[in-house]
Amino acid sequence: MNGLLVCPKSTGNTFKVCSHVADNSDAELLVLNQSPEKDLKKYTSIILCSGVYGG
Ligand SMILES: Cc1cc2nc3c(=O)[nH]c(=O)nc-3n(C[C@H](O)[C@H](O)[C@H](O)COP(=O)(O)O)c2cc1C
Repeated sequence: MNGLLVCPKSTGNTFKVCSHVADNSDAELLVLNQSPEKDLKKYTSIILCSGVYGG
């Protein structure tokens, strides 16, 4: 699988988990507004990651 993890920011729990998964798998990490632009067509899976801020 050629996966991409999309993380909203480079701090916080979501980033820690995404970094760990990216470091220990074939998945790549994209941090919004910080990583260089990626060609999304090359990924078979794109996973959008976020903390929950319901209340
Ligand atoms: C103001 C606030 C609201 C939150 N609301 C929820 C919620 O509704 N459900 C939940 O499971 N976690 C909730 N959380 C916990 C966050 O989802 C959790 O801390 C998460 O790891 C934050 O992700 P981040 O560090 O990447 O921003 C809330 C945290 C805060 C500070």
